[in-house]
Amino acid sequence: MGRVVNQVEVLVRVAVLGAGSWGTALAYTLATKGFRVATWDLDTAVLESISGHENTRYLPGITLPPTIWGEPDLAAALAGTDLVVFAVPSQAMRVVAQQARELIPATALICSVTKGIEVDTLMTMSEVLEDVLPAALHTRLTFLSGPSFAVEVAREFPTAVTIAGGDAVVTEAVQRAFHTPFLRPYVSDDVVGVEIGGCAKNVIAIATGAGDGMGYDANTRAATITRGLAEIARLAVARGANPLTLVGLSGVGDLVLTCSSVKSRNYRVGFGLGQGRALADIQAELGQVAEGVLNAKSVKALAERAGVEMPICEVVHAVLYDGMEVRSIRALFSERPLRSEPEHQFERPAT
Ligand SMILES: NC(=O)c1ccc[n+]([C@@H]2O[C@H](COP(=O)([O-])OP(=O)(O)OC[C@H]3O[C@@H](n4cnc5c(N)ncnc54)[C@H](O)[C@@H]3O)[C@@H](O)[C@H]2O)c1
Repeated sequence: MGRVVNQVEVLVRVAVLGAGSWGTALAYTLATKGFRVATWDLDTAVLESISGHENTRYLPGITLPPTIWGEPDLAAALAGTDLVVFAVPSQAMRVVAQQARELIPATALICSVTKGIEVDTLMTMSEVLEDVLPAALHTRLTFLSGPSFAVEVAREFPTAVTIAGGDAVVTEAVQRAFHTPFLRPYVSDDVVGVEIGGCAKNVIAIATGAGDGMGYDANTRAATITRGLAEIARLAVARGANPLTLVGLSGVGDLVLTCSSVKSRNYRVGFGLGQGRALADIQAELGQVAEGVLNAKSVKALAERAGVEMPICEVVHAVLYDGMEVRSIRALFSERPLRSEPEHQFERPAT
């Protein structure tokens, strides 16, 4: 599918920045539509492997079409591109955006598919990109999130995601670009809600994995997911999100996915901790970034800043960084004051 200019079909050009699991799976998705996709990364070995039609490091076993290639020169990757996909880890977003800032064509659509919060500044990815990119590009920014394991998308398993953006025309154009028979994007104008859901769920996944690692089962898992959603929603709403966004794909959808599959790196970190293993050993075995370990810091700090109570995230933070015994997660059930559900149902005006 291309666009027609002066009766000539022009193939849509895409630049994917960050050629890890997710960047490569989305490059594959976009290539199934006939788009030509340049992938760029600082790891040139990965780029060479992609040009050889397989990302052997991050997406082994998936054959990539010849319309995807590795491009080590960022300027060449971005020249004449119609769509820029930012797919680097959250802590690399600022530096990559700084490198790309002057190279992104004014007419390009931009989609960040990165989930996370910058640790030093507590900025979400939309805030980082708006901080770095020229103002003229801000309306072209969109944010893709939702329940989506890269390998399943690359195997064309039916998947649905949310794409959020401030400009409806731009967001719908990005929605059409990503829509394939196996990837169904919904649009949203709630960038904050989509971003907070996509980041905080990683911390809840560590708690859920820890419960499973300690030998607990379905009851504990369901309680952690549901109460985890309540605390994510509190944070998102405090930052101006629509609470209904949290019951959508980027909220409960992504939370359930991340908390109930061994494919989730964050769940696996929690599972290992629950078994009494050291964090460093678990991370070394994973060999990939488990963003929830960093997100635990940022989410705790954001919650404190917003004056929001996030007890599960606090305990995960204490286990990861303050040497708290993983068994203390049990105290979330036994030692906290009893509450009502939903949050404000039984609030009475003061007499
Ligand atoms: N893997 C998934 O299933 C999945 C699904 C949905 C969303 N995401 C999100 O996508 C983002 C990327 O995750 P991933 O799983 O693809 O990570 P990954 O670790 O598989 O790949 C990250 C890639 O970014 C590259 N990179 C890191 N720093 C860079 C820099 N400064 N400049 C250029 N390239 C750099 C690395 O070399 C690597 O190739 C994360 O925010 C993640 O939460 C991942």
